[in-house]
Amino acid sequence: MGFVKYEQNGYVGVITIDRPKALNALNKEVLADLEAVIDGIDPEKTRAVVLTGAGEKSFVAGADIGAMSTMTKAEGEAFGKYGNDIFLKLESLPIPTIAAVNGFALGGGNELAMSCDIRICSDNAVFGQPEVGLGITPGFGGTQRLVRLIGTGKAKEMIYSAKNIKADEAYRIGLVNAVHTQEELLPAAMKLAVKIASNAPIAVRNCKKAITEGYLADMGHAAEVEEKWFGDCFETEDQKEGMAAFLEKRKVEEFKNR
Ligand code: CAA
Repeated sequence: MGFVKYEQNGYVGVITIDRPKALNALNKEVLADLEAVIDGIDPEKTRAVVLTGAGEKSFVAGADIGAMSTMTKAEGEAFGKYGNDIFLKLESLPIPTIAAVNGFALGGGNELAMSCDIRICSDNAVFGQPEVGLGITPGFGGTQRLVRLIGTGKAKEMIYSAKNIKADEAYRIGLVNAVHTQEELLPAAMKLAVKIASNAPIAVRNCKKAITEGYLADMGHAAEVEEKWFGDCFETEDQKEGMAAFLEKRKVEEFKNR
């Protein structure tokens, strides 16, 4: 893929947005390449995904402003839908995703990171939704996912003010789970991905389904969702092996995804 690279490292897939000349800004071509990479991920072979940006300066500096500058209302709405559909596809991947935010995560970049399950970042990372300074609203999920992640008050402040925040502030408000140096960021993301991949894959995938389906439901329905995915793990080879290993006081060698 021209603008998006994919590498399989054992059970971990690494996606790299690769348009460093434009700080990895998202135009239709980059988005199309991203969608093709997402579509190509084999959940049988892949147990966790790391998503990052090429270069040392930027994760993704947003949607492509040049491309958007001449859009009509209808084209703007269609572009929003295009990005939203792809980010929803990423969010709905059955396997866990980790955004390794290695620099600017602005506008569509922050929105891309928020479409992943977990975010960690480098100490030079900068987050923000600068759209109102450009005369538009966030359009790839920012008005929805930021509120869900950090709460309405802080999300509204970030979106209305278009003020960027640095890595330490992003950590403080829970937008990212950890801050690393540039050199340590990818190894840390890989270490977390490998740890996730070492657990029973059906159980990990069912956790993601239970969290996603139950998150916005009322607690009664959310409990039913959990019961369904909890029950679904039983009778799998991995459940039998995981519990047998505990009872026999030994380690599981490798979960089989069965
Ligand atoms: N779109 C298109 N090109 C972009 C871009 C973007 N979002 N961000 C950076 N670039 C390009 C610049 O135009 C520049 O290209 P040239 O070398 O050809 O001039 C190149 O990347 C390097 O950028 P800068 O020279 O500006 O680098 P800098 O270090 O001085 O500044 C920056 C970095 C602060 C990130 C600055 O580039 C910037 O503010 N970028 C725009 C960030 C932004 O507003 N993002 C939100 C976009 S709107 C959106 O995303 C809507 C949505 O929700 C879907």
